[in-house]
Amino acid sequence: MRENPGERDPIEAKVHEIYADVAKPRRPVRDPRAAVEVLEREFKLIVDERIVALTYAAFMNGRPVLFEGPPGTGKTEIGEALLELWAGRKPFLLPCSENYDEYKVIGDFHPLIAMQKGFNEESFIPRPLLAALILDAGVLVDEIRRSNEDFQNMLLDVVDKRRIVVPELKRVFHARGPGFQVVFTSNPEDIAQNDLSDAFLRRVVRIPFTYPPREVEARIIRLRIEENPRLDSNAMNLILEAISKLRKSGLAHKPGTAEAVAWARMAQALARLRGRSSVALQDVYDAALSVLAKRVEDEEIVSSVVGEVFHIAPLQR
Ligand SMILES: Nc1ncnc2c1ncn2[C@@H]1O[C@H](COP(=O)(O)OP(=O)(O)OP(=O)(O)O)[C@@H](O)[C@H]1O
Ligand SMILES: [Mg+2]
Repeated sequence: MRENPGERDPIEAKVHEIYADVAKPRRPVRDPRAAVEVLEREFKLIVDERIVALTYAAFMNGRPVLFEGPPGTGKTEIGEALLELWAGRKPFLLPCSENYDEYKVIGDFHPLIAMQKGFNEESFIPRPLLAALILDAGVLVDEIRRSNEDFQNMLLDVVDKRRIVVPELKRVFHARGPGFQVVFTSNPEDIAQNDLSDAFLRRVVRIPFTYPPREVEARIIRLRIEENPRLDSNAMNLILEAISKLRKSGLAHKPGTAEAVAWARMAQALARLRGRSSVALQDVYDAALSVLAKRVEDEEIVSSVVGEVFHIAPLQR
């Protein structure tokens, strides 16, 4: 209990001071159909209404969501956007790593201030998870498989009980409203990472992500490139065709939609540098290897698949 109820809680004051700018407010959009429109218009994201509805349904049940699927399928950006639309605030992003722990996400003590004043509210530095709870904002926990099991259990406990205990301060902080929700992302094919425990998987609502159908991928690319230099439908089809073949190939790092977009944008930039008003197939071809082959051992497969696809249409050499 605070001694003077009129006085602002010092931890809340710090959270507002440090993070209010990060978690900027906006109008929430909690209707899935309206959200699909806002996602396209404002976030340049094309999202299936079913994904939005499932995510929101999970939030309504206070359950965290797990977006799982291959790299470059929009898990992180869609997760952030949906948390923002649901809460009406920008979410906090927690990129996971093996040594992440509660001190890094809930709070810790400033060593010098703690030495002078002790381990109390004055020396306490609130971190993003606690800030999200206090500001009623969402949290995107990126690449959850890179974290350790203790960390995952700590997060689940916070989401379940909608509260954070800080024993050093003898304090319990409670969620303020429905905005505090969690989306986890994970890529099960990522190497050198941990398995998710049964306890974890039981508690989350898992939403699988896959590569989009060809027409959707074309819409995404159009949405994400500039109007000029123009990318005609022939160039677009070659990109989509090569990307689709590479996904079926033995490539270690298969291209996601992120790479398809990056490829089209690189081709456009090359065309601009070469003074063209529309993208030539040469620009598309020249951009291919540098965008699609992430490692030396990928080069052979990428150049053979791209070469094969470019023979379909005569190359403008
Ligand atoms: N549905 C989509 N709508 C619009 N852009 C998309 C979509 N899916 C992927 N993209 C493209 O991919 C990029 C976002 O990929 P993001 O990093 O969110 O994917 P990810 O699934 O989190 O990948 P990773 O597993 O590598 O972290 C966007 O910047 C955009 O270019
Ligand atoms: Mg991601």
